[in-house]
Amino acid sequence: MNLKAVFSIFLISVCFTESIAQEIPLLKTSLVGNRIVEFVPKGFDKNKTPSLILVSEPKSKGKVPYDWSLVPEFIFKNNKASAVLNLKGDISLYGGGEVTGPLLRNGQSIKLWNTDTGAYSVEGGKRLYQTHPWVMGVRKDGSAFGIIFDSTWKAELITNSNQIIYNSEGALFKVFIIDRKSPQEVMKGLSELTGTIKLPPRWALGYHQCRFSYDSEKRVMEIADTFREKKIPCDVIWMDIDYMQGYRVFTFDSIRFPNPKVLNDNLHKKGFKAVYMIDPGVKVDKDYSVYKSGTKSDVWVKKNNGDEYHGKVWPGDCVFPDFTDPKTRNWWGGLYKGFLNTGIDGVWNDMNEPAVNDNDFPEDKRLGTMPYDTPHKGGENLPQGSHLLYHNAYGRLMVEASYNGILKTNPTKRPFLLTRSNLLGGQRYAATWTGDNFASWDHLKLSVPMSLTLGLSGQPFNGPDIGGFLGDTSGELWANWLGFGAFMPFARGHACAGTNNKEPWAYGEAIEKTSRIALERRYRLLPYLYTLFYESSKNGIPVMAPVFFADTKDPLLRAEDQVFLLGENLLVVPAFAKEPALPSGIWEELSLVEGEKTDKYQAKLSIKGGSIIPAGKIIQKAGENSFDPLSLFVCLDAKGIATGKLYIDSGDGFGFEKGDYSLLTFNAEKKNDTVIVRISNVEGKRNINDEIKKINASLFLGGKTYVGSGTLKDGIMIALK
Ligand code: GLC
Repeated sequence: MNLKAVFSIFLISVCFTESIAQEIPLLKTSLVGNRIVEFVPKGFDKNKTPSLILVSEPKSKGKVPYDWSLVPEFIFKNNKASAVLNLKGDISLYGGGEVTGPLLRNGQSIKLWNTDTGAYSVEGGKRLYQTHPWVMGVRKDGSAFGIIFDSTWKAELITNSNQIIYNSEGALFKVFIIDRKSPQEVMKGLSELTGTIKLPPRWALGYHQCRFSYDSEKRVMEIADTFREKKIPCDVIWMDIDYMQGYRVFTFDSIRFPNPKVLNDNLHKKGFKAVYMIDPGVKVDKDYSVYKSGTKSDVWVKKNNGDEYHGKVWPGDCVFPDFTDPKTRNWWGGLYKGFLNTGIDGVWNDMNEPAVNDNDFPEDKRLGTMPYDTPHKGGENLPQGSHLLYHNAYGRLMVEASYNGILKTNPTKRPFLLTRSNLLGGQRYAATWTGDNFASWDHLKLSVPMSLTLGLSGQPFNGPDIGGFLGDTSGELWANWLGFGAFMPFARGHACAGTNNKEPWAYGEAIEKTSRIALERRYRLLPYLYTLFYESSKNGIPVMAPVFFADTKDPLLRAEDQVFLLGENLLVVPAFAKEPALPSGIWEELSLVEGEKTDKYQAKLSIKGGSIIPAGKIIQKAGENSFDPLSLFVCLDAKGIATGKLYIDSGDGFGFEKGDYSLLTFNAEKKNDTVIVRISNVEGKRNINDEIKKINASLFLGGKTYVGSGTLKDGIMIALK
């Protein structure tokens, strides 16, 4: 070997050592609130990794607690940043957002690259429509921590039992760690950093009926009328893409949907709300107003050579708004004005990963989106950056633009927006559903851990396509799914084009009856559900929670993902659940609707000892008076007491922010052979005396039910003999 060769080997090894993992020391570590620590690696540059997750930079700063043990190690290799956290002891891991597989995430790995993954399987679901770089860990003693990797770069999240690894394909990022006494407190911490959902309009908690597509005004009204004729509760009918003129967003088909204003008025007359779909892809068509206006305002994503980026979606060749640019978001928001003025009540943003169906993506066809190096403009606090940086934030930026546009058009109404793609923190703008699932038993079962995990990742307002979207649905599958889906935060039936009819009456009389019972049960519980949404909008606690929330120290509950809690006080055991792990303590079976106990498809509902659950009467739509009378379900704890809350407001608008609401606390106490139920506290300025004239209370005790009635003023006495 000559000297030249030795020298070149030396050079190669120098290059090699330069590209091996470089451990990055911390630039800054600081306490930013109540046991939340911010870790900033040396070399971090917010112009390379802007934060799109945090609601704002935390303001309070202080010293790191002396007992802090969780510290990330940052590594930088080949221009890609990673963070590793070594875990000590036996820790149950959760989170990661929209994932398939079990609730307990020890030993899992997911890809964070928002992807249109139709008919995902448990395996395929390792890369879905959303990005939540977030992990929660629960220790043996029930204390917990949560970790935010504050990055939108394409990434991979590995949750091994002894190590959490976050490998990004981009620049260095910050890490925020919350370490508190319980998982519930960690969820509150997550909401302090990333925000909460906004309180939705009450109608959005009703049942939603959708199909791809109810493709004419006539068909939409047939569906609406059938709900009312058959007395099956429902609040919302959804318009999927076929209402548009040739899939051009913000237009209406001139033959099948010639008069959306009349259609929406007619739906409103029957007590329905109307939600319409809007995708981000805008058809390239010189004569189409949205394409013309966007081109004039220079809002489209452009390629590196300055040409418009074109990709194929439903209408064929499309351009895509560059939502990183505030000017574009503003322009997009403005499009909602004329659209919503037809009486549209809510909006559904879909395909916003963004999904592009060109199938010419060289690396992996299923990544179907724009090329990685497509540039985005940025603006205000967002730097210019590549699609590799902004892809995972595209849906989130789109819903920010949509939300603001909807609110600007109707400033006195609470926006209702559903999105398929999103990012951790994006719950501030939109609810979500779990995308294109399949009509199968596997998908029915995995819809529970999926919804739970989204809830544990900051997104409480979520649910699956009940019945399954792709493939034909059998009556058995539908009835089983609705039997517990009726208690999920977002309850919508949906069906893909070419599949069978999937409305509650589509499977014959017996299943129709089952569907009615399931939905009547949901509607009776709306006062409780609405109270839970109110609380979640304040503190970020999931509406639908895992059963280990009932006892964070019980190791047997940590992996349970067939059954779930609605709030703290209601346990939902779906009919499919086999030998579930149930929380200990007093739980009494609740009855809401006649016929539910003998119906094999209905989930079993139990009320927790020590709690009071408010309920209403059976209504057909959320806007009806539910409190004629108000029902209180009471279950005493071992000491003979119980407590519960009820939130009431006008159901829409923002009066509640100025005090037009009432938050009631009820207490119950057993004295000898009677139980007295009273209001112990009232918050808010709303006069509820006209709304609640009578209260019926049912006490569940040892398998028996005792009843009593009374008023707000006098309380209720229940005799136990
Ligand atoms: C996507 C959505 C689905 C919708 C369809 C047509 O596949 O996920 O819900 O029905 O597009 O718009």
